[in-house]
Amino acid sequence: MKRVKLWDKEFEISYPYEEIQVAIRNMAFRMNEELVGKNVLFVCVLNGSFMFAADLMKELELDDVEISFLKLASYEGTASTLEIKELIGVNENITGRTVVILEDIVDTGHTIANVMNQILQKGASEVKIATLLFKPDAVVTKVEPDYVGLSIPNDFIVGYGLDYDRRGRNLKDIYTLVK
Ligand code: IMP
Ligand code: MG
Repeated sequence: MKRVKLWDKEFEISYPYEEIQVAIRNMAFRMNEELVGKNVLFVCVLNGSFMFAADLMKELELDDVEISFLKLASYEGTASTLEIKELIGVNENITGRTVVILEDIVDTGHTIANVMNQILQKGASEVKIATLLFKPDAVVTKVEPDYVGLSIPNDFIVGYGLDYDRRGRNLKDIYTLVK
């Protein structure tokens, strides 16, 4: 089994690149059917989603595709940094549009719920969530992703955009923490 070491921790390969690509093609196949005729704005949540977004976009055969990138900023020094986040980088007019949020992973669901509310507040008529990875056993919010690449156990993973303390984002495959 292929292993990598990042900082003090060992990770073992769990989702090879080819399996990730199949999952992405399946997501794109559904999007190509369900979003046809809509002027869709895809919103890639940085940093983790950059590889997923790049590969997904290449599989889309929709006519009017646009992509934008956003980062979340939490205010420091408040009681809860979990709740208070803002979106930086969304300058497009999204009033009345269909927005598809591209996330690397939905874990507890707090991040995606926050992004979704803020995009709705900016006037989107419809917001859909596409996540490459979903941890159904970890989710504590009511958010249900519309498009899921792979449903995975509640383990810590890295690679294909996801990091452990800033490292591992460049890995082509996805690896799981060895306990
Ligand atoms: P949530 O708000 O708990 O759903 O977590 C969302 C964010 O936490 C993701 O966008 C990731 O950046 C990070 N995250 C959650 N699980 C993992 C993991 O297993 N590996 C690396 N990052 C993760
Ligand atoms: Mg993320």
